[in-house]
Amino acid sequence: MTEVPRCSLILMAATLAAVGAQCSPRHAETVSSSGSGHALNSAAVVAHVELDPAPVSLSTLRTRRVRVDDPVYRTQKEYEGYDIGDVVDAVFGPDARRSPQIDIVFVCSDGYRATLPMAHARDGGVLATRDVSVPADVRWQPLRQGREYMLPAPYYLVWPAQRDPALQYPWPYRVVALELALPEPKVRTGDATVAHGEDVFRRDCATCHAINLQGGTLGPELNVPINVTEYWEPKTLRILIRNPALVRASSKMPAFPQLGDGDVDALVAYLTFMKGQKVELH
Ligand code: HEC
Repeated sequence: MTEVPRCSLILMAATLAAVGAQCSPRHAETVSSSGSGHALNSAAVVAHVELDPAPVSLSTLRTRRVRVDDPVYRTQKEYEGYDIGDVVDAVFGPDARRSPQIDIVFVCSDGYRATLPMAHARDGGVLATRDVSVPADVRWQPLRQGREYMLPAPYYLVWPAQRDPALQYPWPYRVVALELALPEPKVRTGDATVAHGEDVFRRDCATCHAINLQGGTLGPELNVPINVTEYWEPKTLRILIRNPALVRASSKMPAFPQLGDGDVDALVAYLTFMKGQKVELH
C-alpha cells in the first residue's frame, strides 16, 4: 500500500485533535500497513507511506536545488529534491501539518528511523533525489560506511540552513518510507536521572535501537526479552556507549564522545529502569 486512504486521514485528524485537547499523547490505531517488509514497529504510528516506488503524488511536486554543508559526506554539496513540507502535504494531505505535536518519521532501508517534529516541516529541509555534482545518470556519490560503500538512494534528507539552532536536524539517507507518529508517552518515574536518560536515549539512540519494540532496528532491541543491563556489566556498557570500538572491533555503532559522564550515567540508569517495564511479547 503506498497511499493512505482519505477516510483514514480524516480519522487520523480526529484522533490528533483529541490528543491535542488532552495534552497527553496516546497510542492511535495504525491506519495503514507496509506491504514491502518494513514492519510497523511502533504502536504510535498513525500513517505509513512507502516512497519506493515513488507515489504518484510526488511526481507532481516542483523540485529545487540547494547547497548544503553536508555533515555525512563532510563537504559542501548541491542536491536536487523536494521540499519536505510539500512532500508531507502531498502524501499525507494538508491536514497532517495542522498537528504540530505529531512526528514525521523517516524510515530507512537499513532500519534507521529519524524523527522530525511536524512543527519543523517547513524549516527548508529537502528530500534529495539526486546529487547534482555527479553525472545525472549516476545520481549519487558512493558513501563510505565502515568497510563498505553504499548509495544514499532513493532519498536523502538534507538541510540548507539550521533554522532552529536548538534542534538537531536529522540527515537520514536511504529513506524508503515516511510515517506520522505520535510521540511515545514518557516513562513514569520520579527519578530525574532516569528521565534525563530517556531524553538522551530518544535523541541519540532511538534512531537505531528499540526499547520495548519502539524505535529503530539498525541496532539490537535493548529491553525485551532480556534487558541489556541483565547481561552487560555497567562498566563495559559505559565504555561501549561512548566508544563502541573499545569493546567491539568493526562495530557499526557510532561513537558518542560528546556525551558527558552525567549523560552516560543517566542512559545506564534509564536502561536499568526499563528492566522493570518490559512489554509482553506475543
Ligand atoms: C547508527 C546506529 C546506532 C546508534 C545511533 C546507536 N547504536 Fe548502539 N548499536 C548499534 C549497532 C549496529 C549495534 C550492534 C553491535 C555492533 O555493531 O557493535 C549496537 C550495539 C549496542 C549495544 C550492545 C547491545 C547488545 O545486545 O550487545 C548497546 C548497549 C548500545 N548499542 C547502546 C546504544 C546507546 C545507549 C546509544 C545512544 C547513545 C546507541 N547505542 C546508539 C547501532 C547504533
